Amino acid sequence: MRAVLATPELIDAQVAEPTPGPHDLVLQVEALAVNPVDTKVRAGIAPGGPGRILGWDAAGVVVTCGEAVSRFRPGDAVMAAGDIRRPGCYAERLAVDARLVGRKPENLSWAEAAALPLTTLTAWEGLFEGLGFDPDGGGCSAGESAGHSLLILGGAGGVGSLAIQLARRAGLRVIASASRPESRAWVQEMGAEQVVDHHLPLAPQLQALGLEQVDAIANFSDTDAYWDAMGELIRPHGSLLVIVGNRGPLAMERLKEKSVRLCWEFMFSRSAAGGDGQLAQGRILDRLAALVEAGEIRTTLGQTLGAICAASLGAAHALLAEGRTFGKIALQGWPQR
Ligand SMILES: NC(=O)c1ccc[n+]([C@@H]2O[C@H](COP(=O)([O-])OP(=O)(O)OC[C@H]3O[C@@H](n4cnc5c(N)ncnc54)[C@H](OP(=O)(O)O)[C@@H]3O)[C@@H](O)[C@H]2O)c1
Repeated sequence: MRAVLATPELIDAQVAEPTPGPHDLVLQVEALAVNPVDTKVRAGIAPGGPGRILGWDAAGVVVTCGEAVSRFRPGDAVMAAGDIRRPGCYAERLAVDARLVGRKPENLSWAEAAALPLTTLTAWEGLFEGLGFDPDGGGCSAGESAGHSLLILGGAGGVGSLAIQLARRAGLRVIASASRPESRAWVQEMGAEQVVDHHLPLAPQLQALGLEQVDAIANFSDTDAYWDAMGELIRPHGSLLVIVGNRGPLAMERLKEKSVRLCWEFMFSRSAAGGDGQLAQGRILDRLAALVEAGEIRTTLGQTLGAICAASLGAAHALLAEGRTFGKIALQGWPQR
């Protein structure tokens, strides 16, 4: 089958078909989206090796199902992020544990659907399992209630774009950060009620909005860079969500003084743990599909760069490296032979 290998140069290649296990389905990849994790994994590939198939955001058609798979049948349209330890979706066919897979929203194109899985799982697990908010807007397990304030740092990125929509649907007051006119407009389109600029001091901007502190902060950018600001802006007994690994030690005293809760989210933790716990991700994606079909959540696709090949993936990686994209970048279809 055709695939794009990272050696770390991206090259068009012919590779062997995947070998699925009993819990796997094999899907024909119709579209994929790129993520910063693709470029991070690529940066760690040593030259001279066999290369790796990257990519952990796919939408496609089920081709075969392992004997333990009961939720899907060949022909079903699905979407998945998958497991970072396995070959990814820069390939015509992807073997993925079916428990990590959700059905594709019927009203979306392949590219619009491929934009969703990885960031949906990150935002959903972070906001609703980590921070404990109720996705449907009721009370939450942390004793909070809807209407509380959430500051989202990095609002226009792939994760932020989904998190804004989910948080608004959950009844939270969402203040999102964006630094450019295009990204400000984008976060407002996603539903942010107020926008702050992450390249300017945050405290005075929040004060101008009538907020001395916020109930929760979701940082979808640099954990180290915002650590002090988060400690300053979070209210006593508030909650912080971080998703980007820290580069240096983080001073915990400030959080202790305010009894602040710190939540880490890593969306590949579930696939790493294995077993039936993975089904939680399939269920989140199924739930999202229903919300998209009901018009409550929209795709976060920002741009489609063409067919799946080394050249267009190289262009997508270059855009990701700039750190100024909004929403998601997807590729759809395979080049004509
Ligand atoms: N732990 C997990 O499970 C997990 C899952 C997904 C992603 N991640 C990580 O989370 C990070 C974000 O992922 P993503 O897919 O949302 O990235 P992305 O789509 O590439 O993010 C692009 C956005 O970052 C914003 N940005 C740039 N500099 C910023 C800054 N200094 N402060 C705040 N925002 C800034 C930009 O906004 P402006 O243009 O407005 O400046 C741009 O819209 C990445 O490091 C990724 O690897 C972790």
